[in-house]
Amino acid sequence: MTQPSTVCTKGIILAGGSGSRLAPMTLGCNKQLLPVYDKPLIYYPLSTLMLAGIQDVLLISSPDEIHRFESLFGNGSDLGIRMQYQVQPQPDGLAQAFVLGESFIGNDPVALILGDNVFYGDGFSKSLQAIAQNLTGATVFAHEVSDPSRYGVIELDAGGMPISIVEKPVHPKSNLVIPGIYFFDHRVVEFAKALRPSARGEYEITDVIQQYLNDRSLSVSRMGRGTVWLDTGTPMALLQASNFIAAIEQRQGVRICCPEEIAARMGYITPKDLRRLAESMESDYGAYLRSVARQLGHSTIPS
Ligand code: DAU
Repeated sequence: MTQPSTVCTKGIILAGGSGSRLAPMTLGCNKQLLPVYDKPLIYYPLSTLMLAGIQDVLLISSPDEIHRFESLFGNGSDLGIRMQYQVQPQPDGLAQAFVLGESFIGNDPVALILGDNVFYGDGFSKSLQAIAQNLTGATVFAHEVSDPSRYGVIELDAGGMPISIVEKPVHPKSNLVIPGIYFFDHRVVEFAKALRPSARGEYEITDVIQQYLNDRSLSVSRMGRGTVWLDTGTPMALLQASNFIAAIEQRQGVRICCPEEIAARMGYITPKDLRRLAESMESDYGAYLRSVARQLGHSTIPS
């Protein structure tokens, strides 16, 4: 039998959920299609996967909304990636992604990113690529926050080894929480299938991670202060995320998590493809893509 691969080339974006904390904004629109400053929220997690070197993507969303993502991204070829789609009949929990994605995952490792998580930071793509290139067991991140009770909380020992994981604890044992990007080996499907719903009725991602902890095959990577992880779960958090992205983009003249630009810079598409994509956009965003295409086009001409 062939050995399972340790290179993670597949990623799942979970973009369903009810978005109830953002109503009425989410009454007529999926949360992940709301804007974070100049682009839909879904662009950010998609960009993060692409920056990790992942080109095979399964997007999971609700039966009513999946077609919106299909019309936005199609088969992914515009971005030089392969996009597939899967319906989640009910928002029964994050761990369902692996059961729904069983045939997509096959016998390979897979990354999961939550559709409402925004990451930004110098060196973050490099650390994602390093994890994706050589994965054994599972790797999750740990990030310090001031309000850990709202997240999956992880406790580490003095040597940085994980001791416990609890979903939304009333009395958290640490300020370290697990952000919504995770890497798992092929066993994740079997681990997810073995789960029972939690007390709040969901198949919890933390229960999947717990099984890797029990198996002593969980690695934890600390996200330093230089990596920004933004929440978009409430109207204020969404506004703050927009303000943050706007402040950096305006100051530096670059766009954050722009999948078209990333596709060109990662070599998934050519500068010419990028220019073609930009042609349909009259906005400042389109003008930015045209300038990146020009710059990349010139840099490929030998001097
Ligand atoms: O943001 C990180 C946190 O995300 C982790 O620290 C927690 O361990 C993890 O459980 C999760 O907690 P949240 O309460 O933030 O998850 P939420 O229910 O908001 O779902 C996150 C995204 O996944 C959101 O975009 C909706 C989508 N989703 C959610 C569920 C429960 C689905 O697509 N299907 C679902 O069944």
